[in-house]
Amino acid sequence: MTVATNEWLNSLPKVELHLHLEGSLEPELMFALAQRNSIDLPFENVDQVRAAYEFSNLQDFLDIYYQGANVLIKEQDFYDLTWAYLSKCKAQNVVHVEPFFDPQTHTDRGIAFDVVINGISRALKDGEEKLGITSELIMCFLRHLSEEAAFNTLAMAEPHLDKIIGVGLDSSEQGHPPEKFSRVFAKARDLGLLTVAHAGEEGPAEYVWTAINDLKVGRVDHGVRSSEDATLMKYLVETRMPLTVCPLSNTKLCVFDDMSQHNIIEMLEQGVCVTVNSDDPAYFGGYMTENFVALASALSMSQNQAKALVSNGIEGSFANQARKDQMSDLIKGY
Ligand code: HPA
Ligand code: ZN
Repeated sequence: MTVATNEWLNSLPKVELHLHLEGSLEPELMFALAQRNSIDLPFENVDQVRAAYEFSNLQDFLDIYYQGANVLIKEQDFYDLTWAYLSKCKAQNVVHVEPFFDPQTHTDRGIAFDVVINGISRALKDGEEKLGITSELIMCFLRHLSEEAAFNTLAMAEPHLDKIIGVGLDSSEQGHPPEKFSRVFAKARDLGLLTVAHAGEEGPAEYVWTAINDLKVGRVDHGVRSSEDATLMKYLVETRMPLTVCPLSNTKLCVFDDMSQHNIIEMLEQGVCVTVNSDDPAYFGGYMTENFVALASALSMSQNQAKALVSNGIEGSFANQARKDQMSDLIKGY
């Protein structure tokens, strides 16, 4: 068994299925946009911002994450945010991405839905043309808000269905079970959209079941608490339901005390379709390569295990079969 090295992990072609664009806002860009848009930040400099990124749970993080998004105002801001993420992907050999965005974080501040989605999709298009990174965009509903607010957001998205492949569900998990959004997800599926949802991050394995049964998700985001339910684990193995796991996020938000306790490699060995992702890399200390490196150093992840995790990402992606085949060929050579 060859333990994967940092350089090898960086060069390994990768795919990312769980990334919040707002969570890729680096402090440097936050300051640049604050200046461009004449917005006051409650920080003096980037070091102060980074020092504030100590979280003891998901809500701690969300409070600061929503505050950071206030600097995003114009279409070009959303373009620049997305482009910065794609440039990082290029440097780390990430060849396909399926990012999330949270329209309600912006529309609730008076930013038009069109401004948000047009900036993001223009950058994704350039990412494919100029960097060769293919992508599919996923719109998330904020689960701490109402079902009615989610319906309104879906209505705003209707003229833009050509730009999104699916809908997701994020924000505060506990107390906001997936089934709160059963009807809006049914409407989204009727419109031809695919579905995913965050479940089993801080919330119980039961939420993974209702994401699957009530929201009919094609993937579960996080899902690490599935390991507490043996019947669910058997189901995940049998159906190859993908879990988009985010190791650095899980340790930063204290879902696991330490990376050595993370269950991703164990789940991989049990036959679960687990994948590696960065979630909110500007807040959690790393992008795709850093997440893989953390697994190699804390859990002695082998090269074969790293390749299996990428293969799972390809299998679980919403790319078409031709692109999946192309990506599978890319990793065969490693
Ligand atoms: N969980 C829930 N909501 C989020 C996350 C997350 O990890 N990241 C951004 N919004
Ligand atoms: Zn997430």
